[in-house]
Amino acid sequence: MKNGLVMDERIENKGETIGLIGGTGHLGRGLALRWAKKHKVIIGSRDEEKAKRVAQEVTEKAIKEGLSISTIEGKSNDKTIEFSDVVVFCVDFEPALELLKTLKEKFSGGKIVISPVVNLKKRDNYFLPDLKGGKPSAVVIKENLPQEVHVVSALHTLPAGKLYSADPLPGYSVIVYGEGKAKEVVISLLREIEGIGVFDGGTLEVSFFSEYVTALLLNLARINKLKDLSLKIY
Ligand SMILES: NC(=O)c1ccc[n+]([C@@H]2O[C@H](COP(=O)([O-])OP(=O)(O)OC[C@H]3O[C@@H](n4cnc5c(N)ncnc54)[C@H](OP(=O)(O)O)[C@@H]3O)[C@@H](O)[C@H]2O)c1
Repeated sequence: MKNGLVMDERIENKGETIGLIGGTGHLGRGLALRWAKKHKVIIGSRDEEKAKRVAQEVTEKAIKEGLSISTIEGKSNDKTIEFSDVVVFCVDFEPALELLKTLKEKFSGGKIVISPVVNLKKRDNYFLPDLKGGKPSAVVIKENLPQEVHVVSALHTLPAGKLYSADPLPGYSVIVYGEGKAKEVVISLLREIEGIGVFDGGTLEVSFFSEYVTALLLNLARINKLKDLSLKIY
């Protein structure tokens, strides 16, 4: 009940603080730049000094690109979780599970977690999803979080190289998996990013579809010597 109430308030005032675990990397920088237009963003890192440095770099890029933004702060991953309403795992699968061993208890009070995680392996030079026990990465992440945390999976096919820019994206499609109010909050956050179409893809359990599509896009990029391929659904 309490968690439901907190999320209703979030939907109404759209004042979420968004925390990016491992936000110092490719995806984190892009999300910080895009979401700081409306939200306070915290870039997280294992190394707080690095987080502060990257937060400053992203802020300077926003100013240079003429964007009007809220604050972008840098903090350790644990403080990032503590001070955020919505937390994005901007790290690979194994690091995510490693971080959860020590950070799990920081996820209290019905926070929303977004998993963009795609776990890939290579076979015969092709990328393939590496689904642990046949489960999508987001489901495994959910199993390693406290029960009251709401996990939503999204962003898998959005290329970070195109995200870290002030330019509107060219109509890429993003598919969102999860349930209830948490999925609604994430869909509305994603709709704030100019130039993407957002689709409800169903429950977390079928988010492996987007992990497979990501593998396909990476294989197509390699074979055809292209980069930053994405998905557009008409
Ligand atoms: N790149 C894309 O285009 C893209 C698109 C969609 C989804 N994704 C998914 O988003 C996630 C992040 O991708 P990315 O390309 O942004 O990753 P990345 O740039 O390679 O790394 C992100 C951050 O992970 C942290 N990290 C690295 N090794 C770690 C470890 N052993 N333990 C804890 N943290 C570690 C680092 O942060 P610190 O050193 O500061 O701690 C690093 O800056 C992945 O799961 C990927 O599948 C990526």
